[in-house]
Amino acid sequence: MASPPHPVVTFSLLILSLLFSTACSATCAAPKLKHSNLYKNCNELPTLKSTLHWTYTAANKTLAVAFTAAPPADGGWVAWGINPTGTGMGGTQAILAYKDPNGSMAVKTYNISSYSSIVEGKLAFQVYDKRAEFNAGDGSITIFAVVESAGGKVNQIWQVGPGVSKGVPEKHEFNQENLNSKASLDLSSVAPTGASQTSGDAGLRKRNVGFVLLLGLVFAVFCLPGRS
Ligand SMILES: *[C@@H]1O[C@H](CO)[C@@H](O)[C@H](O)[C@H]1NC(C)=O
Ligand SMILES: *[C@@H]1O[C@H](CO)[C@@H](O)[C@H](O)[C@H]1NC(C)=O
Repeated sequence: MASPPHPVVTFSLLILSLLFSTACSATCAAPKLKHSNLYKNCNELPTLKSTLHWTYTAANKTLAVAFTAAPPADGGWVAWGINPTGTGMGGTQAILAYKDPNGSMAVKTYNISSYSSIVEGKLAFQVYDKRAEFNAGDGSITIFAVVESAGGKVNQIWQVGPGVSKGVPEKHEFNQENLNSKASLDLSSVAPTGASQTSGDAGLRKRNVGFVLLLGLVFAVFCLPGRS
């Protein structure tokens, strides 16, 4: 009779398989943002095939983002924002971009206090360096911006819409995808560089090193580009 696997082995495998998903999703398979290495993190957002590259700098309380999504039609818009007061659309402070008929990229900010009150203007927080790029390959648009944020967990909202008429974004669809385009973003989820050392006896540390090496190997095998 074969002996069952040691509980520690079983447990490690379980942890490893859990870590895969997080480790792999951190690499953000698509889309391919040029200079994505400028950002420390990348999340594939759960709806509307969108991604968010981001870096939070606690020292000056700024969040640098690159949000990418494809509008549902040529001439449509994409938007990303933070809702400081709730989790839905009402209260969202949004950055919206579209390709202007003249070929240039328009980037605007909107205070969305409700569905009926979408006002272009200043946001509740500072926005620096906002710009947008059109990605001809897949028709997607990337919004780049740096926003002020106190850190912790923020409510992020994103959206895409079919068109812009006379500079005013047209209403987006109300499909499930559009309604579920919100998620919490934990700005403190990244370990600061030079993170604290773990205490413990040398043997335990050695085992930890072994575990970390194994993790690195597993990550390389399953997650590196070139493997699918
Ligand atoms: C905040 O700090 C980062 C890292 O030092 C720097 O790259 C960025 O320009 C700063 N942002 C602002 C708005 O000062
Ligand atoms: C956004 O709109 C709401 C409702 O009109 C208003 O109370 C709030 O001050 C506005 N925020 C900014 C930054 O203008």
